[in-house]
Amino acid sequence: MSAAITTRALTKKFGDHTAVDALDLRVPRGVVYGFLGPNGSGKSTTMKMLLGLTRPTSGEIEVLGEPLTERSRARLLPSIGSMIESPPGYGHLTGAENMRIVADMLGLTSRQVDRALATVRLTDHRHKLVRTYSLGMKQRLGIAMALARDPSLLILDEPTNGLDPSGIEEIRTLLVHLAAQGITVMVSSHLLDEIDKMADVLGILSAGRMIFQGTRDELFRHSTPDLVIETPDPAAALATGVTATPVRGGIRISGVDRDGTARIVHRLAVAGVPIHEVRRVRHTLEDVFMDLTGRGGLL
Ligand SMILES: Nc1ncnc2c1ncn2[C@@H]1O[C@H](COP(=O)(O)OP(=O)(O)OP(=O)(O)O)[C@@H](O)[C@H]1O
Ligand SMILES: [Mg+2]
Repeated sequence: MSAAITTRALTKKFGDHTAVDALDLRVPRGVVYGFLGPNGSGKSTTMKMLLGLTRPTSGEIEVLGEPLTERSRARLLPSIGSMIESPPGYGHLTGAENMRIVADMLGLTSRQVDRALATVRLTDHRHKLVRTYSLGMKQRLGIAMALARDPSLLILDEPTNGLDPSGIEEIRTLLVHLAAQGITVMVSSHLLDEIDKMADVLGILSAGRMIFQGTRDELFRHSTPDLVIETPDPAAALATGVTATPVRGGIRISGVDRDGTARIVHRLAVAGVPIHEVRRVRHTLEDVFMDLTGRGGLL
């Protein structure tokens, strides 16, 4: 079966600035796809192109097995729920009234509306004005608006932005639950922590380019662990010329493979540095992400 979303060399330029640079995106069906990247890396621009809201400068997009064109867009959109940039909704209306507007626009039944509100746990709050909602409730209302049409694909731009840990957890549980029902969920964030636990597949953007796409395990495999050497004499260890940072009880050397480990241990031993313990320390996923995006590295 085709992927839910495929792009080939998808590119968007604003004047001289390339916001999205030759992106080859592949979002398999029925997964939570975590679309990560720092501020300004091109996440929203990409999502807008996938929804036909912004025209690509070049490249191709296939959504739900069909090339995205002006003509196919009208046919595809009822199957795609989305929330881009900030939660929608009129503050001076209630949650239910906001949902009614969406329902009228899309010809949805009140059963669909009720079910979407129940899924995001807003049933009890539906008659309150949206301006009295917490940010988490607004985000959930936005998701309900996207869900009411019973989409097979959900595209959510930073639905966890600004939420506290319990709000994030709630959205996470919801999205995992939706994917388990067969809905493909593409969700963006600039914080890896926020989507790490929910995403089956990660796509990482940096300055408009995809620098990694794959599973969490694959991402880990790309990272070289640090080497921690415990010694009562860190000064002697540093005096051998290894590039290391002193840490409590020893030194730490970043990004060392197996051969490098052997070489460093040999050098220290030859210099007579007392070695109490040698450990290779795996990076956290956040470290890997920061390494990749912060230093503009390429995998
Ligand atoms: N309409 C526009 N006109 C000119 N430049 C734009 C426009 N929209 C986005 N950009 C630029 O394109 C780049 C990518 O922006 P985009 O909003 O897609 O990033 P993002 O990853 O969603 O960032 P954030 O995490 O802040 O939401 C930025 O440099 C931005 O300034
Ligand atoms: Mg954005």
